[in-house]
Amino acid sequence: MNGGTLSNLIRSKTDIVDIIGERIPLVKRGKNFFGVCPFHDDTNPSMSVSREKQIFTCFTCHHTGNVFTFLMDYDKMSFNEALKYLGDRVGVDTKGVSIKQSNTKYSRFYEIYDLSVKYYQNNLLSSFGSNARNYLENRGIDKDTIKKFSIGLSLPNNNDLTELLTKKKYDIEDLNKIGLSNNNFDIYKDRIMFPLFDINGRVVAFSGRIYDNRDESKYINTKETPIFIKGEQLYNYHIAKEEVRNSKYLIIMEGFMDVIRASTIGLSNVIALMGTALTKEQMKLIKRLSNNIVLCLDGDKPGQSASYKIGEEFLKENIEVKVVSLPNNDDPDSFILKEGKDKFLSYIENAVNYSDFKINMMKEDVNFNSDIEKANYINKVIEELVSLNDEIRIEIILKKLAKEFDLEYNTLGKRFQELKDKSNVKKEQKVKIEPIKTTRKNKYNQAIEQVIYFMLTNEWVITEVEKERLLLPDEKFRILVQEIIYYYKTFGSINVADFYTYVQEKKDLVPSVNDILNGQYNEKVDRDTLFLYFGVIRDYSRKNQIKRLKEKMINEIDPLEQARLADEIRKLRIGEV
Ligand code: CTP
Ligand code: MN
Repeated sequence: MNGGTLSNLIRSKTDIVDIIGERIPLVKRGKNFFGVCPFHDDTNPSMSVSREKQIFTCFTCHHTGNVFTFLMDYDKMSFNEALKYLGDRVGVDTKGVSIKQSNTKYSRFYEIYDLSVKYYQNNLLSSFGSNARNYLENRGIDKDTIKKFSIGLSLPNNNDLTELLTKKKYDIEDLNKIGLSNNNFDIYKDRIMFPLFDINGRVVAFSGRIYDNRDESKYINTKETPIFIKGEQLYNYHIAKEEVRNSKYLIIMEGFMDVIRASTIGLSNVIALMGTALTKEQMKLIKRLSNNIVLCLDGDKPGQSASYKIGEEFLKENIEVKVVSLPNNDDPDSFILKEGKDKFLSYIENAVNYSDFKINMMKEDVNFNSDIEKANYINKVIEELVSLNDEIRIEIILKKLAKEFDLEYNTLGKRFQELKDKSNVKKEQKVKIEPIKTTRKNKYNQAIEQVIYFMLTNEWVITEVEKERLLLPDEKFRILVQEIIYYYKTFGSINVADFYTYVQEKKDLVPSVNDILNGQYNEKVDRDTLFLYFGVIRDYSRKNQIKRLKEKMINEIDPLEQARLADEIRKLRIGEV
């Protein structure tokens, strides 16, 4: 770890709010920014990021750090990788910083994929590619789009790609392992090749589509490999993650063709699930991007059922979901082709709240000739309304329901109130069970932590602490104070974020510094207040020393030494020392 000037320079040019904000949605509240902490399982915004101090801290799991440790913990970078990454962003030369190769054990695999993409792209442009080019053109995929998504074509022969790559000295074992070859044969033959990118935009797999009426599976996807984890795949994630910062919401579609189509009308805050299932890992990745989701799956029955299921998952995560239901079994691709950009955008703008969508969906399959089914349905809708936080909408829906089924509004209103009261009682019970977690610190610990906090935020305090020669009984604080003084003398200045980098080398100190950064402290300090704190600390130290000397005295057998100790204690008591 480098506690020196290069890391300080790079850190000083970087804003932690930008770096974290690019990965997790942050909202400004007062002086600080807040987001859902990615280091423990949570749905509440309990992580605070301070622009002033350039520190983040979670008040639930107490994970704390500066921009370097955030990248190390979140993006799994090494310190030097974080340094290079940030250095590149702010234009600071990091050539001297070396990165161990451990993280690049798959670099060969990425290389092979990059070559394959180029090879497939060339094929599409070759004379053999004319049918495929026609197919794409007929589907309204123009040259720019082909380039943008690096679309290519595999040839019908048995082993073109395998031969090319093995001639380039790539190991056939590796080609098998990463899903491009099977023994000595190519996996993909005569298919339009769509590269699949990982969250960092590296090609890690392909989806190959037939483009004639061949009686074969429409798509062949690469098998799971060391670099392609299917449950984490989300098409266009690497583009959408940049785009979402402007648009403030994320659209989720089923197929990558839908995403490609959306891009042709200028929509890039879009990802595809590559099907209708949403895995836990995908959910985690999506949560990083936005808490404002528009589900725009296929308009057919499976698509709508999937919206129903997936919407519920997002709701559980406290993420706002809206749903678009496309007409006539259209998917976004076919709808945009038929109806055009403006019509599609108006569908997106008019996406309905998930709860409304759900209430609509619940209606399906209900046999309204059966009184039991009818009553069940009405009860289910009212149950649903209980979790809705919008009185006006609740009233509108209840009135509609009353009218539709020719019932008294009051009957429905009463039932709603009953369920609402029940759920409130449940909530209260829940709140009561939760233990209040506060670690009580004694006066001394409070004072010393406050003083250390002042040292890190007000340089003049460091000089005062040094002059004061405070005696700290607690070793971890003693060393920390010494380190702060040392740091200040060596670098000529100090701030929390840079000191945090420095302290990472001294593993023993990290917990104490985290403790200090996690606490609630006064921000402002003047000399008088500082000396009050010194008084508390000195008082405590003296009592501590007296206690020690007393014990020593009791165990002492030499009367002369005993007398000397008694004298020392007396002096301490009257404050002569
Ligand atoms: N899919 C797949 N294998 C299939 C069918 C679908 O892997 N046989 C995946 C693909 O990732 C596809 C997604 O599921 O992107 C959605 O399927 P579908 O709606 O059938 O694909 P479309 O986007 O409609 O593709 P196209 O318009 O080319 O038929
Ligand atoms: Mn389609």
